Amino acid sequence: MSETAKISIEGKEFELPVITGSEGEKAIDISKLRSLSGYITIDPGFKNTGATTSGITFLDGELGILRHRGYDIEDLAANCSFLEVSYLILNGELPTAEELKAFETNISEHTLVNEGMEAMFKAFPTGSHPMGQLSSMISSLSLYYPKALNPNRPEESIQRTIIRLMAKMPTICAMIYKKSKGHPLVYPNNSLDYVTNYLNMSFGQVSDPNYKPDPVVVEAMNKLLILHADHEQNCSASTVRVVGSSQSNLYSSIAAGISALWGPLHGGANQEVLEMLEAIKNDGGDVQKYINKAKDKNDPFRLMGFGHRVYKNFDPRAKIIKKSADDVLAKLGVNDPILEIAKGLEVAALNDPYFVEKKLFPNVDFYSGIIYRALGFPTEFFTVLFALGRLPGWISQWQEMRRDKQPIARPRQIYTGAAPREFVPLNKR
Ligand code: CMC
Repeated sequence: MSETAKISIEGKEFELPVITGSEGEKAIDISKLRSLSGYITIDPGFKNTGATTSGITFLDGELGILRHRGYDIEDLAANCSFLEVSYLILNGELPTAEELKAFETNISEHTLVNEGMEAMFKAFPTGSHPMGQLSSMISSLSLYYPKALNPNRPEESIQRTIIRLMAKMPTICAMIYKKSKGHPLVYPNNSLDYVTNYLNMSFGQVSDPNYKPDPVVVEAMNKLLILHADHEQNCSASTVRVVGSSQSNLYSSIAAGISALWGPLHGGANQEVLEMLEAIKNDGGDVQKYINKAKDKNDPFRLMGFGHRVYKNFDPRAKIIKKSADDVLAKLGVNDPILEIAKGLEVAALNDPYFVEKKLFPNVDFYSGIIYRALGFPTEFFTVLFALGRLPGWISQWQEMRRDKQPIARPRQIYTGAAPREFVPLNKR
């Protein structure tokens, strides 16, 4: 007999099914609890709520494990190209050489964006945040491809939308960067691989067709994109699923995910980390002062890049990125005093009882900004790079939600407002 859980409410017992994941994780299925008992469960921030079953990513926050489709993140980051990992996340299996080639070719044939989209930049005020621009641009793709408005169209057509998104995202990210500098756009070069093409569109110049990004930069960027590719039911992936559950189209669902990622408690933390490290440096480099601020309950300051909802031991992505930051800075000959501040802050925090007791460790965003900065990206642009990496994960979460025929996301609430009262017309108030 399959396992069940019993819940006792007002002297009555209710039996609920237990779901077991492929790694032995357990969940009580409470979907029928209300119809059985009249009770709902409440869990602000979904700290203890499984919103779905999923076959994409497994993570164990206590052991610091992260796997996509069964493969360890360390193996993927050390051995794969970003598109190889994207294929895995999107399709469930690592591609053969032929499958990967076909996937790459397919993407490279859709990298151009409609010229009309360039006009949008004229409407954005100077200095607009790149994440606001990215969300708007991705949302506007749904206007250029109206067939995509129907999420129930044939799978072949959905696959075309997925390829379009994967292909146009780097072009759009590079357009945002170039426009922020006031430089002419560098068009996609489809003979280049995904990462090199993106760097070429960002740092190449129209006047210099021979520009080639440093292989160290290409490798670092490839690894960073892989490390961000998916992270199961995080805030932005959940947003993509929630928006998609109303049968909103893929472009607008992804645009919503980008907006969720922008927040400083999620992907926006990478920008905040760099700004925090700069502030510490400009304030004389006293890391202890900032540790004390973070511990002070009357001070809203948090140590950005520390803590995680799920990881309570270490973030495996942060471990890989920390090593990569050392390598990249050494190979590029960059001597960034910010790295020393970051290391000092990490050591001080890891030895501080407050951070130890609350299990607050550096997360993926703590060191990634240092690498992005060494690669030449401005601080405000860091979260765009997170979004570029996270795209296959968001798409895959959307596809899984759709294929599993998940119902529209519509949580309940416990009302705590005013009791019923008599209406008083305006002239009598
Ligand atoms: N600095 C100081 N105290 C912290 C921090 C921090 N960075 N993070 C958590 N705490 C404290 C918090 O005050 C709380 O203390 P208490 O129990 O006394 O009220 C306790 O630790 C638990 O924190 P929480 O906010 O209840 O935990 P959460 O799971 O709701 O939030 C988090 C997780 C990532 C939003 C949070 O740790 C945080 O704000 N970190 C800084 C922002 C950051 O780096 N975000 C990037 C996350 S990783 C990238 C991604 O996938 O988004």
